[in-house]
Amino acid sequence: MNREKPKKFHVKSFGCQMNVYDGERMAEMLGEEGMTASGKEDADLVVLNTCHIREKAAEKVYSEIGRLKKKDGSKPMIAVAGCVAQAEGAEITRRTKAVDIVVGPQAYHKLPEMVAEARSGERPVDLDLPGLDKFGALPRKRKSAPSSFLTVQEGCDKFCTYCVVPYTRGAEISRPYAKLIDEAKALVDGGAKEITLLGQNVNAWASEDDKGNRVGLDGLIRTLDRIDGLKRIRYTTSHPNDMSEGLIAAHGDVEKLMPYLHLPVQAGSDRILKAMNRSHSRTSYLRILDRVRAARPDIALSGDFIVGFPGESDSDFEETLSLVEEVRYSQAFSFKYSPRPGTPAATMQDQVPMEVMDERLQRLQALLNRHQIEFNQATVGKRCELLLERKGKLDGQWIGKSPWLQSVHVLAPEAQIGDMLDVTISEAGPNSLKGEMLMKEAA
Ligand code: SAH
Ligand code: SF4
Ligand code: F3S
Repeated sequence: MNREKPKKFHVKSFGCQMNVYDGERMAEMLGEEGMTASGKEDADLVVLNTCHIREKAAEKVYSEIGRLKKKDGSKPMIAVAGCVAQAEGAEITRRTKAVDIVVGPQAYHKLPEMVAEARSGERPVDLDLPGLDKFGALPRKRKSAPSSFLTVQEGCDKFCTYCVVPYTRGAEISRPYAKLIDEAKALVDGGAKEITLLGQNVNAWASEDDKGNRVGLDGLIRTLDRIDGLKRIRYTTSHPNDMSEGLIAAHGDVEKLMPYLHLPVQAGSDRILKAMNRSHSRTSYLRILDRVRAARPDIALSGDFIVGFPGESDSDFEETLSLVEEVRYSQAFSFKYSPRPGTPAATMQDQVPMEVMDERLQRLQALLNRHQIEFNQATVGKRCELLLERKGKLDGQWIGKSPWLQSVHVLAPEAQIGDMLDVTISEAGPNSLKGEMLMKEAA
């Protein structure tokens, strides 16, 4: 059997920002192969770039596969990429006949070869975890979004007992300094004003500079700070144990480093943190935030939480609430614990009943939402810069990001995507704010 070479492709990414970055790289690569990006229903090749972090995330993939059909009723070539591919491998091709290609998150540079194999009737599966190969083989981006991602670090060695990432992404590995500076410059040349450095544990990034000296993430940030045309630097996601003195200090003195830190804690009780193998305590986490706030008093803090980890009692959960009260996050992500096959927590005693998890999640989210509104309201009257990222619904309206990562609507008929606009924040709701334009940056 010989199928025609796909002409149009569609890449759909689920899960974290690192998947978004990988999805963009796959799209570029397929573009270089002469294919063009299209909507899902026109695509001859659909790549589902999947997430395995919670059960619901993984299930989405199978329901999506079942629904994939071209406008003429035929089935496109389907590639399952990302973390479900890594976790389930060839099982996917056994479970559903519709899937032609299974490619793990560290092997997608081989996608064009695999498409060729699939055309001749094979169903290739590649789950290699070769580290940095995928970055080396990638073409350079030519046009970048005003706010672009740059993956600097992959994988995780922390083995939190609930988490699949160490298994799906492999060991912690850092991309080399010089390559990252080159890629950052290319992104800026392509139009990026803001770069968000990405990694499952981004603050564990370490490499050597051009003189052979060891550099950590703070050193990389300080070098990026000197790139003309780059206005903003962010990084995510960080682990509390890798929050070095240097990185905390950078929040105080690197102007382009935005006042925002996403530092997941997961739970407020030391007993649960220990069972999660988080390797930090409630107190050590809070002390880090004290130091970050001392370096940058206006910093917006964000976090991740899991409710209903096995063995979590009412009083453990109360400790999560009290930690949230103490920190007052500007925004946060919270989830019900989802047992993941192959992780130690999945077989722990005392799994928490779903109704209890539902109730705890509701209480936690109500508190987090209240703090988010309070944070947003406290920025009303402040003057700040917005990076315009997309058009709003109204004529002449734009949606931009504040330094604190809030979405702000502003009327600026003359403006263009990628402009930095001086505004005063004038109104604040729970999820978005309004700003009044002060003046447009001279071109
Ligand atoms: N490396 C990052 C985050 C990785 S996953 C960190 O360590 O913080 C993103 C978030 O998903 C985690 O912070 C956690 O809150 C959530 N998560 C991970 N595994 C989960 C599981 N089994 N059930 C529910 N939430 C989970
Ligand atoms: Fe998962 Fe923990 Fe690693 Fe984060 S630090 S990716 S939660 S194992
Ligand atoms: Fe999901 Fe994999 Fe990211 S499991 S959160 S896509 S690292």
